[in-house]
Amino acid sequence: MSFQAKPRVLFSRQEIEATVRKLAAEISQDYQGKHPLLLGILKGSFMFMADLIRLLDFPLEVEFISLSSYGRGRSTPGELKVVQGLRSQIRGRDVLVVEDIVDTGHSAAFLLDYLRKKKPASLKLCALTDKPSRRKVPVTIDYLGFTVPDKFIVGYGIDWDERFRYLPDICFVEVED
Ligand code: IMP
Ligand code: MG
Repeated sequence: MSFQAKPRVLFSRQEIEATVRKLAAEISQDYQGKHPLLLGILKGSFMFMADLIRLLDFPLEVEFISLSSYGRGRSTPGELKVVQGLRSQIRGRDVLVVEDIVDTGHSAAFLLDYLRKKKPASLKLCALTDKPSRRKVPVTIDYLGFTVPDKFIVGYGIDWDERFRYLPDICFVEVED
């Protein structure tokens, strides 16, 4: 797999800001009077999470979790594991998972399953981006930012092998398999 070095803008920082605002408004409405736990999936969600929570106007807690996938290809899931566990109690909490991108759906489906077993009061998924054309496992996204085409995206926290995570726009790079 080789990548063209120059990322091209797919969604600008202004579009991202407007979309994060829209998501924050929806989430604020639904969680008013609650005290949810926002659970970011590392590392891709960190920038989105930082912007999102600054726009939420109710008490909440933030936690991060890290998944690893052994032997993973672009389409094959590998064996998913939670590598950085949870310090917070999930049982009885309103949990909102914050993800950078839902691609095949394996990661989100695995994590939601893992969390559901811990008996949260409610469990929802907020994804900055969704690539429905590559879905292998059905996943319900309760709050969605952008639907993206079948391109490899980077920037705004999202990386290609640790590259381009710092870019302020959501960009794409050309992929040749
Ligand atoms: P899934 O398990 O196939 O849904 O993939 C989820 C994870 O794969 C995301 O959280 C990303 O970390 C990574 N991923 C999938 N597509 C892309 C992409 O276009 N750019 C960067 N990372 C991606
Ligand atoms: Mg991820």
